[in-house]
Amino acid sequence: MDKFPSLNLLSIFAIFAVLSPAYAQHPRHNMPDATAQNQAIAARPWMNPKLSPDQRADMVLRQMTLDEKIDLLHGQGMPGWRGKPMPNADLGNGGVGFVLGVPRLGIPIIQMDDAAYGVRLSARNGRYSTAMPSNLGSAASWDAQAACEYGGVIGRELRAQGYNMSLGGGVDLVRELRGGRTFEYMGEDPILAGTLVGNRIKCEQAVHVIGDIKHYAMNDQESGRTEVDVIIGKRAMQESDLLAFQIGIAVGHPAAVMCAYNAVNGDYSCQNNYLLTDVLKQSWHFPGFVLSDWGGTHSTVKASAAGLDNEQPLDIFYSEKMKEAVQSGAVPMSQLDDHVHRILRSEFAVGIVDYPTQKSVVQAERDLNIARKVEEQSIVLLKNEHNILPLDVAKIHSIAIIGSHADVGMISGGGSAQVDPPGSTSPEWQEHVWFPPSPLKVIRAQSSASTVQFDSGSDAASAAALAGRSDVAIVFVNQWSSEGMDLPSLSLPDNQDALIEQVAAANPRTIVVLESSTAVLMPWIDKVSGVVEAWFAGSGGTHAVANILFGKVNPSGKLPITFPLTEADQPPPQIVPPPPGAQGRTAVMRTGEAKPTFSVEYTEGLKVGYKWYDAEHKKVLFPFGFGLAYTTYSYSNLQVEPGATPAVTFTVKNTGNRAGEEIAEVYAALPASANEPPKRLVGWSKVPLNPGESKQVRVAIPQLYLSIYDEQQQGWKLLPGSYSFMVGGSSADLPLVKQVDLSATPAPNSGQ
Ligand code: GLC
Repeated sequence: MDKFPSLNLLSIFAIFAVLSPAYAQHPRHNMPDATAQNQAIAARPWMNPKLSPDQRADMVLRQMTLDEKIDLLHGQGMPGWRGKPMPNADLGNGGVGFVLGVPRLGIPIIQMDDAAYGVRLSARNGRYSTAMPSNLGSAASWDAQAACEYGGVIGRELRAQGYNMSLGGGVDLVRELRGGRTFEYMGEDPILAGTLVGNRIKCEQAVHVIGDIKHYAMNDQESGRTEVDVIIGKRAMQESDLLAFQIGIAVGHPAAVMCAYNAVNGDYSCQNNYLLTDVLKQSWHFPGFVLSDWGGTHSTVKASAAGLDNEQPLDIFYSEKMKEAVQSGAVPMSQLDDHVHRILRSEFAVGIVDYPTQKSVVQAERDLNIARKVEEQSIVLLKNEHNILPLDVAKIHSIAIIGSHADVGMISGGGSAQVDPPGSTSPEWQEHVWFPPSPLKVIRAQSSASTVQFDSGSDAASAAALAGRSDVAIVFVNQWSSEGMDLPSLSLPDNQDALIEQVAAANPRTIVVLESSTAVLMPWIDKVSGVVEAWFAGSGGTHAVANILFGKVNPSGKLPITFPLTEADQPPPQIVPPPPGAQGRTAVMRTGEAKPTFSVEYTEGLKVGYKWYDAEHKKVLFPFGFGLAYTTYSYSNLQVEPGATPAVTFTVKNTGNRAGEEIAEVYAALPASANEPPKRLVGWSKVPLNPGESKQVRVAIPQLYLSIYDEQQQGWKLLPGSYSFMVGGSSADLPLVKQVDLSATPAPNSGQ
């Protein structure tokens, strides 16, 4: 009898595997053994993951000194910020800000960076970032899953670069299409914008990155943004801009809210008691923390009492001045502790304490594919006369590629959102930045056309001549914008309109590809055959555009903003420039309290975007929710289920010969007594359909989405009366209509 039972090969392997260091390194197996974990918890009871974030935060708070508490309430500066010194610069990660931790208690530094559509400042730190499509562009996908994947890419790349907090999540409603940051926001409808930004944030935080939602609130113009005072009624605010934040917070549970530079109804957002305490912390029960925009803090006692928890990027008001205020009693210790608690509980809730960042290699290939897929879902086909698209490579033997540096790449948005292209030298603030690969290169690769030639478009006659010699002309045009500026108009800059006119005159088989920040005026719309809105397309954008142009992908995007016929059709007062002599951004850096120097009254109230054009019976160039496809769809059989949570059911059919995805939109008209605009978006469903296929779709409608905000009761209510539900493929094409009576029901919860 052998001393040892024979060990077969598999057993030997199994023993080896368990002992091998590789095994120990594999994250799945690298579990801290129970003893070590118990020892850690014994030493620091707050490290017990079984306790709630609030319990853990309270346990840490009780251990902290006053100085340690104060350290959590402000930033340590931003490289190059107004020449201000950074005493602890060596503790930073190269991002736009960081907040000290409490090393002796195991609380990490909060390393934050801008990440609107990708991680900022990467190349200058020797790192790589994927640029996702612009935020507005991604909103054209109307796709919560795509929004989640968007947030996942950014969250993972932040972590890989050593950050544990994102400063993305812009969701200010697009009231003024010429706003310089329109590309950073999610469009004009609060339900679409809030739902998508919430899903982005949810999936950023799922990889242990503190998500934030910004800029709270009414940060709708860049001109004089630190001096403007927005005047707007409470109902109008609650049913528009605040509703986008409310839904984003309910869906994504961001741990942080960034308050805005501007004032609202007389008080700066970052010391506005109504916004920060009455609405955010009391009505919406927001448990996280409010951080200021960079330089957006204006006081110590007032801001602290109003609900500001953290000053960025520096410590003008929330360091020594805060300590003095606490010691004098001007700021109660309980108030200071609430600020600290909110920050600590957020760190535990998102997992940055239990999962410390470990720099790693960015999965560039995976993220580029996701960026391309999101852009493919975000591209909006606006015109396709004679089905010039998709391009039939069997019939096209020559293509002219014209304009917008299409021999280099596709443009991206500027300001604090700017992502550095791989290997680039760090772009300056408001520099025009193009992301490779070039459309010329990718279209050449995708088309078997014998010739694909490029003309820069700088000489329209030369471009027109090339177009005249080609079977089809594709004119790429750009409308660049950035934080810190507003657009002078919605017209394409740099004579691009004239370029399009001349090219189309030479060859009516002209397709225009828009690389735009926002809506664009199109005086040439009747002279071209195709128009494709590609937005700021991101690192995967060129491939996405080519896949749409050549029909590898059937477009499904729908506009998240209205394209008006003229700027003047927008609600007044539009962009209001600051008065001569206004302080400019340095105002917020003064040690004294800055004051708003001019005001803008939002007379349109809650009538944002399509709600305004509907109420004013104004025709538009392209309506909210509009988008064509390489197939067609029909709608039938609308039924409405009244009740505590009403629902609509209807049938969508693919009546064309290509598979596609139809975004079926649901709108509601409230009873006349509500005194509301003609209709509001209340839901949608993205329906994949094969040729000839029909599907029945059900869309449940949260009561909140059918309610009005009652200023007297300071709450939402569903009015009794006759409601009209409308369903179709665009806000201007709603073939299904059904009237039902809904009875008053208890006030809906606040959208949680
Ligand atoms: C900027 C922006 C804000 C950004 C912050 C840090 O001025 O308004 O969106 O996150 O400062 O760069």
